[in-house]
Amino acid sequence: MALFSKRLEHAVRPLEVADSLILADLHAEDFARPWSDAEFESLLSQTTVFGFAVLPLGKRPGAPTGFVLARQAADEGEILTIAVSRSQRRQGLGRQLMDAVLRKLHADRAAALFLEVEENNAPAIALYRRLGFHQVGGRPDYYRDAKGARSGALVMRRDLR
Ligand SMILES: CC(C)(COP(=O)(O)OP(=O)(O)OC[C@H]1O[C@@H](n2cnc3c(N)ncnc32)[C@H](O)[C@@H]1OP(=O)(O)O)[C@@H](O)C(=O)NCCC(=O)NCCS
Repeated sequence: MALFSKRLEHAVRPLEVADSLILADLHAEDFARPWSDAEFESLLSQTTVFGFAVLPLGKRPGAPTGFVLARQAADEGEILTIAVSRSQRRQGLGRQLMDAVLRKLHADRAAALFLEVEENNAPAIALYRRLGFHQVGGRPDYYRDAKGARSGALVMRRDLR
């Protein structure tokens, strides 16, 4: 069943393979190793992978300004990536996207949602803490930025039961 919800002036809808190009563009705004549209296509073709796009109402449909991609296996979910366009941040869109993932996992009776986040990514860590995630582990030297500098990852978990 298609999920389509509206909050404030934005709509959230499930991701489709046809979104791959715009997802690659949004991803490239922030990540040192951007994922290509082919990589998004391949991920979205997997039955365990799902996600949501957020679109401003009033804009032409098909122009997401943020998205989240997740994987579900057995009774656990994992956030693969999330990004909101720079000009659209701090309007609650990241939270709406994460809420959509949490709703789906609740509906599927999943037990927990996991993610990894770069230890210096204060905006993302603040968002996840606000949503009830807590740190359950760490991976030293997990990420490398465009200049080759290394940083660690926090592993975070949100209980769903
Ligand atoms: C992380 C990200 C998705 C958040 O998206 P967003 O739409 O700006 O987040 P929201 O507006 O829904 O914020 C929800 C809450 O998260 C926290 N938060 C978000 N951005 C924050 C920031 N820059 N500083 C402090 N807290 C922040 C706040 O508690 C905020 O609530 P508030 O605005 O009422 O204070 C966005 O910053 C982004 O795309 N970053 C680049 C990609 C990235 O780092 N992804 C995460 C990889 S693990």
